[in-house]
Amino acid sequence: MAGTHILGIDIGGSGIKGAPVDLDKGELAAERERIDTPEGAAPEDVLEVVAQVVERFADAVAPGSPVGITIPAVVRGGVVRSAANIDASWIGTDADEMFTRRLDRPVHVVNDADAAGVAEMHYGAGVGEKGVVLLTTLGTGIGSALFTDGVLVPNTELGHLEIDGHDAETRAASSVKVEEDLSWKEWAERLQVYYSTIEKLFSPDLIIVGGGVSRKADKFLPRLDLHARIVPAQLRNSAGIVGAAWYALAEEG
Ligand code: BGC
Repeated sequence: MAGTHILGIDIGGSGIKGAPVDLDKGELAAERERIDTPEGAAPEDVLEVVAQVVERFADAVAPGSPVGITIPAVVRGGVVRSAANIDASWIGTDADEMFTRRLDRPVHVVNDADAAGVAEMHYGAGVGEKGVVLLTTLGTGIGSALFTDGVLVPNTELGHLEIDGHDAETRAASSVKVEEDLSWKEWAERLQVYYSTIEKLFSPDLIIVGGGVSRKADKFLPRLDLHARIVPAQLRNSAGIVGAAWYALAEEG
C-alpha cells in the first residue's frame, strides 16, 4: 500500500504542514497535519514539531522511507545557506543531517519554491512544458524555481532581485499587498515591474504563479502585459508537500 507513498513536510512562516504523498498521482494520500510554527522558528524547535508530524504518519509510509522537507532558504547539499524570512541561526545548519539523525529516516531538505516548482512540473501547470519555465511563489516573500527543459536550476532566489534600489520581494510579495493595503490594481503595477525585469533577464516561455494568492489569479494576472504566458499554479497549498516528497525520492534514487 505504501509503495509510492512518501512523507512531505512544508516548513512555513506560520505553519508546519505534512502528509504522505501518493507520487503516482501527485496528491496527498491523507489529510495533512498542520502545527503552528514555533515562535522564533529556531532549528531545534522546528525539529521537534517536524518530529511530531512524522510520528503522526509513521504507519502511513514504509519504515525507513525517505522524508522530504521544504524550507524558505537556500539549501546546498543539505546545508542551509540563507535566512531572509527565518531565524538566522539556520545559516550553516546541516539540515539533512540534523533531521536524519532525529527522525531516524533519510531526510532531504529543499528550498520551498524549488519544491513547489518540481510539483508543478510533474503534476500541475508545467506538465510537458519545455524551454524556460519559471515558477514564482507570492507569499511572505517571493520564491522562484527556474527550469530549462524540465531540469531545475536550484536556489535561484529571484525574489531578491534588486529593482529600483529595492529587494523585489519587499515591494511585490503578497504580504506587502496586505501590509500596505494595496488594491489589486496597485499591486499588479508592482508585479508588472517585477515580471518585466524577470523577462528582460531570463526570457521565460512560461511563468507559473504560486502561493496562496494564486487562488485569486483572475484579480491580477489579466492586468499583466508580458511576452511569456503566465498562468496560476494548479497544486495550490499542497505543492510544497508534494514537491518535497518527490524530491526526497529522487535524491534517494
Ligand atoms: C527566500 C527564499 C524563499 C522565498 C519564499 C525568500 O525570502 O529567500 O529562499 O524561497 O522567500 O518563501
